[in-house]
Amino acid sequence: MNVHAAALAKAHRFDEQTSTFACDVIGDLSQTPKRLSPKYFYDATGSELFEQITLLPEYYPTRTELGILRARGREISAIIPKGAALVEFGAGATTKVRRLLNICAFGAYVPVDISGDFLNAQADALRKDFPDLDVHPVAADFTAPFALPDAVKAMPKVGFFPGSTLGNFEPHEACRFLRSARDILGKDAQMVIGVDLEKDERVLYEAYNDAAGVTARFNLNVLERINRELGGNFDLSAFTHRAIYNRDRHRIEMHLISRKTQSVRILGRSFSFRAGETIHTESSYKYSLDRFTALARGSGWKTRESWTDDNSMFSVHALAAAD
Ligand code: AVJ
Repeated sequence: MNVHAAALAKAHRFDEQTSTFACDVIGDLSQTPKRLSPKYFYDATGSELFEQITLLPEYYPTRTELGILRARGREISAIIPKGAALVEFGAGATTKVRRLLNICAFGAYVPVDISGDFLNAQADALRKDFPDLDVHPVAADFTAPFALPDAVKAMPKVGFFPGSTLGNFEPHEACRFLRSARDILGKDAQMVIGVDLEKDERVLYEAYNDAAGVTARFNLNVLERINRELGGNFDLSAFTHRAIYNRDRHRIEMHLISRKTQSVRILGRSFSFRAGETIHTESSYKYSLDRFTALARGSGWKTRESWTDDNSMFSVHALAAAD
């Protein structure tokens, strides 16, 4: 591709992403109750705020999962075939995958993420630290089918889906994702997946309503992003962050609550809010070990091992494709 074509392709991709964002926002704010998709939290500011969340004293998932990966490294490496391709669904900070790359002899690493720029930066850093590892980034939406690079087709496959990202999916979407991962990885695949566990409601509440207010800024940032990318006129001071635990549905819900009667314009459309009306911005599902095992079984996988920390806060599962 010449320079001009590359620039055009990039501009086109930008337009396509922005118009998908616009369609989703207009559609989701036209629903009753109003909602927004959590995948739009992660612009540059949102990703930075999420990294800050992972360091909060109240937010146990990230450090607990890392602790499990550290403590169970030997057991994990024992069930992973030598020379396998590690396929990571979604590419965040590389801390967790480095843990696996350090303990197992992988032949290749395939990070899959919608954000190509981020992926390439991450791939370069890993190539530097693991010179013998073949890194093949794939820019794709990992919730839809995508093709693995030819170079890894003959290798055994191991999927990696840490961070309880699965928790953002509705149960039927989680099932669909696990089936699709099974199809993409093939019939002898394995999968290592991190899943947050149900626990004392106060612990969950604090983790999503932190004292320093970082989660509130993370939640409100999606309105800022709409203002910037879609020319919206949200007044951020007229909305309040709230996270509640929905016991019947086993999920934390994040909301942005309108402090007053107001209307907001986005792309020439007007959306009106009653005082106290909420925008549901995220669900974060929590599983019991049994409910996750049943979900995996119903989605084409069998559980080989499940590990938790000493306080049963978080779980890591090794799955194998069922035949
Ligand atoms: C990245 C989806 C796992 O649900 O805990 C953190 C996102 N939201 N604080 C989660 C999040 C509020 C996080 N996941």
